[in-house]
Amino acid sequence: MPKMMVAGNWKMNASSEATTELLQGLLNGQDALPAGVEMVVFPPLPYLAQAQQMLQASGIAYGAQNASEHAKGAYTGEVSTSMLADFAVRYVLVGHSERRSIYGESDATVAAKYMAVQAAGMVPVLCIGETLAQREAGETLSVVNAQVQAVLDAAGAESLANAVVAYEPVWAIGTGLTATPEQAQEVHAAIRAHVAAANAEVAAGLQILYGGSVSPATAAELFAQQDIDGGLVGGASLDAQSFLAIGQAAQAQLAI
Ligand code: 13P
Repeated sequence: MPKMMVAGNWKMNASSEATTELLQGLLNGQDALPAGVEMVVFPPLPYLAQAQQMLQASGIAYGAQNASEHAKGAYTGEVSTSMLADFAVRYVLVGHSERRSIYGESDATVAAKYMAVQAAGMVPVLCIGETLAQREAGETLSVVNAQVQAVLDAAGAESLANAVVAYEPVWAIGTGLTATPEQAQEVHAAIRAHVAAANAEVAAGLQILYGGSVSPATAAELFAQQDIDGGLVGGASLDAQSFLAIGQAAQAQLAI
């Protein structure tokens, strides 16, 4: 079974001071830090150097929320994967629903970013998920499978041996509406089966995180599901105690 991961996507929330405070809060919680659970933070790009400096000697990993699919050149405002690698970044989110919906990132763009991240020696966290309208139309599984398929077509199933998938139903993000453990498990199992049809071994080892209003109150039940290997946490990752508590919920699963 894949190990557990608890990742915190800070989105566009932080300041230099808040970054120090939050990271220090996590470091101070060493005793509460779950052994065996990979804890990852995704601060906004300007605070990556701070994250590197504060976390490099710790067991907490850090990553970036986005990266350009281009290597370099005239792309004002963009940040390349090699620049992120300069900050010893381990993970990069690709295809977050906010990137897809607000910035119009297509499956093809997301696949190009995914490949650029891997080419620079980092691990993409591929975010997928259906909207409420798609769920109500019964399209959930076809939507998420198509999002995964775009990456399988571009990069091959083997590439998922070096990637993480995060299932985040769009209707559950920032709304306080968490998918029920059963709803999430159904989709996670379908994603694993879809990947297994291309490569069973890669599918068995694939880490599939759940995201969407994960909180200390909901984490344990979600993480208890067979195909849920951790969480991608937004709002609750902005508070050190909540984030650590979610890590503890993941840790509890390892003991079972
Ligand atoms: P919330 O946990 O705030 O719903 O955000 C989820 C998310 O989008 C993480 O990437």
